[in-house]
Amino acid sequence: MDEGAAAISVSNHGGRQLDGVPFSLRALPEVVEAVQGRIEVLMDGGIRRGTDIAKALCIGARAVLCGRAYAYGLAAAGEAGVDRAIEILRVDLERTLRLLGCPSIAELDHSYVNVPKTWEVS
Ligand SMILES: Cc1cc2nc3c(=O)[nH]c(=O)nc-3n(C[C@H](O)[C@H](O)[C@H](O)COP(=O)(O)O)c2cc1C
Repeated sequence: MDEGAAAISVSNHGGRQLDGVPFSLRALPEVVEAVQGRIEVLMDGGIRRGTDIAKALCIGARAVLCGRAYAYGLAAAGEAGVDRAIEILRVDLERTLRLLGCPSIAELDHSYVNVPKTWEVS
């Protein structure tokens, strides 16, 4: 932020580089707390389902990114497979919102998740 970044991405590079590092969702609360809404916080790592997206947004991410989920679609069916992978995530996120009784993505917040006490920043 001091260098003028407009956003920060919380990522462990898909867990491919150092094993044993915290997973991205686990690190997210601390980063959100430190940023205090001054810049956007994005997150990637382990996004496979709509519930994964919803959890990250509830904890304070503005958006998520994904690597393998779309790459699997790409490997299976090229561009159409990427479209399908994105569609699966979109439909699953909408289903998750309905199951939560949450009217919109913008209204996802902490009230929809139980963040373990040990994750909270003191
Ligand atoms: C095949 C592959 C290559 C990657 N290469 C890099 C890389 O060179 N540098 C980097 O910072 N992250 C790299 N990543 C991590 C992605 O940028 C991204 O953080 C990660 O894939 C997100 O997690 P996900 O795959 O669970 O969605 C790579 C991921 C994959 C699957």
